[in-house]
Amino acid sequence: MTWLNGQDILCWLRATNEERLEDLFRLADATRRQYVGDKVHLRGLVEVSNHCVRRCAYCGVSAHRADLVRYRMTQDEILDCARKAVEYGTVVLQAGEDYGLTTEWVAELIRRIKRETGVVVTLSLGERPDEDLAAWKQAGADRYLLRFETSDPDLYEQIHPSLPGRPSDRFAILRTLKRLGYEVGSGVMVGIPGQTFESLVADIEVFRELQLDMIGVGPYIAHPATPLASCPPAPDGRQVPNTELMACKVLALTRLARPDANIPSTTALATLRHDSAVDLGLSRGANVVMPNLTPARYRCLYEIYPGKGACLQRQTQRQAQ
Ligand code: 5AD
Repeated sequence: MTWLNGQDILCWLRATNEERLEDLFRLADATRRQYVGDKVHLRGLVEVSNHCVRRCAYCGVSAHRADLVRYRMTQDEILDCARKAVEYGTVVLQAGEDYGLTTEWVAELIRRIKRETGVVVTLSLGERPDEDLAAWKQAGADRYLLRFETSDPDLYEQIHPSLPGRPSDRFAILRTLKRLGYEVGSGVMVGIPGQTFESLVADIEVFRELQLDMIGVGPYIAHPATPLASCPPAPDGRQVPNTELMACKVLALTRLARPDANIPSTTALATLRHDSAVDLGLSRGANVVMPNLTPARYRCLYEIYPGKGACLQRQTQRQAQ
């Protein structure tokens, strides 16, 4: 298959003709089938802590949410969830950037999960120092997810204030993760205020350059308690809309860019559309679903965007039927 160049990607992102777009979605679906088959991979998601030291401008659990009740699950609680993930084969441990999850505590948790359940362990714990990432690999972690969110350096900096004395360089961390032997996942949000079509084309090209194993793309959903919710869009028709259609276009183009990657049908997409969006994503390039195994009392506190906890409950009900 000949790969689309930047101009082609831009045309698809700007396309409005529904019949033409069906061609794109069909091509993504056929590519998914040809390269990774029809099996839908399930990954059990556990949101282990909503503490976070970072102030990402879009995120509902960032440190500027002084009003938010914070939680950190115990190892035994996480182990209970990991046991439920055995039927999926993989558990994803996600949290804010929480240094209360110490290097050794997480290492011990990984060893226990491996010993007691044998599942593949995926971590998504933010921009941790190289020594942490190395210790966790050593303890048995298999994969790490860290979205770069946007490849536009100015926009990235605006929405990711760095910690004092520690510049935020997610591409450097992604390279470190690869070097350490992790399978690496990344991705972006679609429709961030200030995100242009051109920068989104660059994002998709970066997916290919980095040879990512897993790629998550979902629509940006404004959280009213965050600064980004009141930021202006890019001017002159250059702003990428944060719609379901745009998220699906990016999903389909991502499949064409990385035919054999694992690509989830994201919760953010499901949150926008409510009912059948998981299936919609699976028919437009995705091959992974991440059922949420977080206990309900914590899940409702992990609201990185509005509607997340509620939506996941619906998703879980659907799966239980
Ligand atoms: N809307 C959509 N996605 C979001 N994320 C964080 N905040 C939002 C939001 N407001 C995504 C980011 C992050 C992932 C865990 O969730 O891409 O990497």
